[in-house]
Amino acid sequence: MSKRTVLTGITTTGTPHLGNYVGAIKPCILASHDSEVQSYYFLADYHALVKNRDPELMRQSTLEIAATWLALGLDTETAVFYRQSDVPEILELTWILTCSTAKGLMNRAHAYKAAVQENIEASEDADYGLTMGLFSYPVLMAADILMFNSNHVPVGRDQVQHLEMARDIAQRFNHHYGDHFTLPEAVLDEHVAVLPGQDGRKMSKSYNNTIPLWLPAKQLRKAIMKIVTNSLEPGEAKDPDDSALFTIYSAFANQQQRESMRQAYRDGLAWGEAKQQTFELIDQELMSSRERYEALIAAPDRIEQTLLEGAARARNYAAPFLARIRKAVGVRKLG
Ligand code: TRP
Repeated sequence: MSKRTVLTGITTTGTPHLGNYVGAIKPCILASHDSEVQSYYFLADYHALVKNRDPELMRQSTLEIAATWLALGLDTETAVFYRQSDVPEILELTWILTCSTAKGLMNRAHAYKAAVQENIEASEDADYGLTMGLFSYPVLMAADILMFNSNHVPVGRDQVQHLEMARDIAQRFNHHYGDHFTLPEAVLDEHVAVLPGQDGRKMSKSYNNTIPLWLPAKQLRKAIMKIVTNSLEPGEAKDPDDSALFTIYSAFANQQQRESMRQAYRDGLAWGEAKQQTFELIDQELMSSRERYEALIAAPDRIEQTLLEGAARARNYAAPFLARIRKAVGVRKLG
């Protein structure tokens, strides 16, 4: 039996934070060790371009995210790790799919609808400030996925609609041109906790409550000290199930550590002490990767080389498959 294909993209906007690490990066790197799986992980820089008009930030973010995955031990011999823009076949496929994607389907996309709604509420023209990039975003994402006949696509909840759209796009194409594309499925990992941020809401750039992954130890400690707690005094029993700090601790702890911390909360552990232990646990997990990260950031050429090798492997698959798709739609030689 052939291997399952697991694929996911990481939009290269911003600096990786603990929530990205716990929710996506760590589980993906673990999954890539499964010998039944062929994984494709890529830096979605053309998706980033939809929101990001700052060229230097585009570069910096790609560098940081690539260095992060490599520092955390992604095995690029087994996983195919590449930058979307290094695989031009994906953009060719995007146009082919665009031509058979219903505009009405795109009209229903949450991100697009939210942007329109915001304009209407601000008494602007409905399309004010909207680009075709934002509107077509789900087609590009479908091309990312369908290009490699992905079976499973690990994503966050906010991306589930995009997966449904990718399936719709594939089905419509298959219906008209024959059975070419595998229908992908979203995978939401129920076991992976959504990490709260410093204010207790989901850790997210849009809430401005993130803790960057690669803070030096001292600053990491400071950031953890800022996690909200309540006003219970040392010695007073604390409820671990109602504590962002405990949830964060748990995401890094093993079963035994989690249980004894749970007990310590009930026994009245002081918040300051709970924070210190949380810091130590996280710092220990990240310490050696942090050194690798620093070394990688200082050697962008090495990262570039790794990405180009990944792209070559991706294209080994994409080029012949795209040739088949072009032929199927009639973009082909005359002879
Ligand atoms: N849109 C995804 C996000 O914002 C990133 C992404 C781009 C992606 N292409 C993809 C995810 C293909 C999965 C598969 O998180």
